[in-house]
Amino acid sequence: MSAQTQIRRKTVKDISRAKGGEPLVCLTAYDAPRAALLDPFCDLLLVGDSVGMVVHGLPSTVGVTMEMMILHGQAVMRGSEAAFVVVDMPFGSYEASPVQAYENASRLMKETGCQAVKIESGEYAGEIVKFLVDRGIPVLGHVGLRPQAINVDGGFRAKGRTSDERDRVIREAKAAEEGGALAIVVEGVAEDLAREITAAVSVPTIGIGASSACDGQILVTEDMLGLFDWTPKFVRRYGNVKGEITKAVESYAAEVRSREFPGKDETYALKPEKH
Ligand code: KIV
Repeated sequence: MSAQTQIRRKTVKDISRAKGGEPLVCLTAYDAPRAALLDPFCDLLLVGDSVGMVVHGLPSTVGVTMEMMILHGQAVMRGSEAAFVVVDMPFGSYEASPVQAYENASRLMKETGCQAVKIESGEYAGEIVKFLVDRGIPVLGHVGLRPQAINVDGGFRAKGRTSDERDRVIREAKAAEEGGALAIVVEGVAEDLAREITAAVSVPTIGIGASSACDGQILVTEDMLGLFDWTPKFVRRYGNVKGEITKAVESYAAEVRSREFPGKDETYALKPEKH
């Protein structure tokens, strides 16, 4: 690729500059062809551990492994060229200590080439964020509804119903900011709390189910494309991929069974080689 045609990926600086400005456009991506389709429109692509549920059929993100995140991270890096790519650290790969987090985060960065990692940063995690950032690993925080903690919470529940819970989410966001997080995903909170968090931290907030009072938005791509029958309240469907796939596969099956496919156009007509 010549220097002229080389496209520079967005950097931490591009993401930071979005604070209070035009909202950041972010989506999840798990494979190369989809990353290539999303890349021209997105500031940030997240290789989310939601891959466990969306692609691998797991009941939650708890079973996701480092190996899964590395394989999907590599694919997304191969498929994209301009977006800032963040890979999620899976459950059990960072919570025990800053050193454990560093070993796994550096492996994710080395083996995928991604630009940052994301951790579901509870209040305790400020120290982990700082340890990583000080050693050259950009970190995206994730506060509010933390899907890796569903077994403690008793399910996927929006956060901020009590004043204690609101205060805790704000402390989580402040801890991530103070540790040096480049931005913070805020999941599953009402608009007033999202507004308060966005005002309280100097880095961009990226909302999912957290109203428009954030500095950017992220959705699970398959949710917004309409791949599933059920989606959470905060998802707007921009497509009907499930309907399109069903229609296409139904037609294919009918045409194979009726021998309409393959037809003449899809069949080789090789001329014999002359000797
Ligand atoms: O895993 C994921 O996809 C996420 C986003 C939905 C924020 O964490």
